[in-house]
Amino acid sequence: MEKRQELYAGKAKSVYTTDDADLLVLHFRNDTSAFDGKIIEQLDRKGMVNNKFNAFIMEKLEAAGIPTHFEKLLSDEECLVKKMDMIPVECVVRNIAAGSLCRRLGVEEGIDLTPPTFEFFLKNDELGDPMINDYHIESFGWATAEQLSVMKKLTFQVNEILKALFLEGNMLLVDSKLEFGIYHGEVILGDEFSPDGCRLWDKDTREKLDKDRFRQGLGNVIESYEMVGKRLGLSF
Ligand SMILES: Nc1ncnc2c1ncn2[C@@H]1O[C@H](COP(=O)(O)OP(=O)(O)O)[C@@H](O)[C@H]1O
Ligand SMILES: [Mg+2]
Repeated sequence: MEKRQELYAGKAKSVYTTDDADLLVLHFRNDTSAFDGKIIEQLDRKGMVNNKFNAFIMEKLEAAGIPTHFEKLLSDEECLVKKMDMIPVECVVRNIAAGSLCRRLGVEEGIDLTPPTFEFFLKNDELGDPMINDYHIESFGWATAEQLSVMKKLTFQVNEILKALFLEGNMLLVDSKLEFGIYHGEVILGDEFSPDGCRLWDKDTREKLDKDRFRQGLGNVIESYEMVGKRLGLSF
C-alpha cells in the first residue's frame, strides 16, 4: 500500500489517498480544537494517543459485530481505512446529561437518561453544527430513511458495547458522537472513537477524563486520555 496525495485536512486528522481506490490513510495530528474550530491548540502526543485508542476501540467494535471502516494501524499516527462517502450528520447518544443538552434544555449536568437519548447534528462548523431531525436529513437528501434507521440502530449498539467496556475500567460513558458513511452501498461506522468525541467520567469521583478537560481548561488533557486507555488495558 502506497500513500499518495492529501485529499483533505480536517480539524484533527488529514486524509490521504492510496494506490488502492477503496482505501485511505488517516493521519491523526496533534491539533486539538474546541467550539467548532474556534480554538485550536497543539497537544504533544495527542495524534499518537488518539490513533492507538481509536484502533483499539474500532477492533473491539468489529469483534462485537459492528461494521466499521477500520482496516489496520500503519504507524504511531496513521491508520488505514475504507474510503467512504461520508454522511454529513453526527449521531449523538447520551446516557447522562452533559454539554449542549444541559444548555439547550436547562437540565442539570449528571442526571441519568433512561433510556439513553439520541440526537442528530449537521456536520457544519460555520453553522455551529446545528441540531437537525430525521425529516431534515431525508428532505435535504443527506441520507435515506433506511440509512437513517441503520445509523440509529448501530449507534445504540455501539453505545451498549462501549458502556460495558468502559465500565470494566471503572468509567462511565456519558455520551458519544459517531459519524457514518457509505461503503459499497452499506452504512458503516467511520471517523474515530476517542476521548475527543465522547465524554467519560470516573465512576466513583465523576472526574472528567475526556475533551471537556481541554474545553474547560482543566489541564492534563493527554495524560488523562492515556489513563483512560491504560484502564482498558492499552499501552501507548
Ligand atoms: N473512512 C473515511 N472515508 C472518508 N472520509 C472520512 C473517513 N473517516 C473520516 N473521514 C472524514 O475525514 C475528515 C477529517 O477528520 P477530522 O479532522 O475529524 O475533520 P473535521 O474537522 O471535519 O471533524 C472528516 O471530514 C471525516 O468525516
Ligand atoms: Mg472530526
